[in-house]
Amino acid sequence: GHTGVLSGKTVVITAGPTREPIDPVRYISNHSSGKMGYALASAASKAGARVVLVSGPVALTPPAGVEVRQVLTAEDMLREASAAADEGCDLFIATAAVADYRPETCAGDKIKKSSEAMALSLKRNPDTLATIAGRDDAPFTVGFAAETSDVASYATDKMQRKKLNMIVANDVSAPGLGFNSDNNAVTVFWPGGQASLGPDSKTNIARELVAMISEHLGQAAR
Ligand code: PMT
Repeated sequence: GHTGVLSGKTVVITAGPTREPIDPVRYISNHSSGKMGYALASAASKAGARVVLVSGPVALTPPAGVEVRQVLTAEDMLREASAAADEGCDLFIATAAVADYRPETCAGDKIKKSSEAMALSLKRNPDTLATIAGRDDAPFTVGFAAETSDVASYATDKMQRKKLNMIVANDVSAPGLGFNSDNNAVTVFWPGGQASLGPDSKTNIARELVAMISEHLGQAAR
């Protein structure tokens, strides 16, 4: 409602996987379901924000009242997130699992099998989170980091390198948590502090994250 902790704020959230085409029938992707991002979009909307959800291909129903912009590739995601930031954004949260690389070319016709081995040439994708955080008019920016080992050091390093205000480290090595499950466990880092949430449902984690981020956002605005 209008009295929520994020009332008057515009929140842009990226969610889901990206899909990088190899040929007309094949692509490179990952196991992100979009559940964490959609749960955050719902929680931010309930906290009173205007929410723009830049979503890769997922099988979820968008939360009521949330504006969804569907994308396929990492390049699409950068373009739509940048357009949303151009329109005005107070808080940017990147939960998407973006493919780091895409096939250098997308074949016009289905690739036929021939020799026993084949090589696929890949090219680095643009980084939406780093691009938004690097803008002159950068919003308060929160990244996610899916890690399997040395979670704290990789996450804090990523926060500094990408100039983020906060980072949510997702330990994806534990079974039943992280990618494509209903539950999660995270540790949130900001300059000078950290807090752990879960294991809990992504719905509850999202609600707690929105409360935690709102507190830091309020302090940054002062
Ligand atoms: O979708 P679910 O099934 O619910 O799973 C949720 C999740 C595990 C995918 C999510 O909680 C999560 O951890 N997302 C980040 C996944 C990841 O692999 O992050 P990364 O370490 O590759 O990237 C770090 C950050 O940069 C992320 O905020 C990512 O969105 C962003 N990024 C990365 C690369 C790129 N080209 N553009 C980006 O914006």
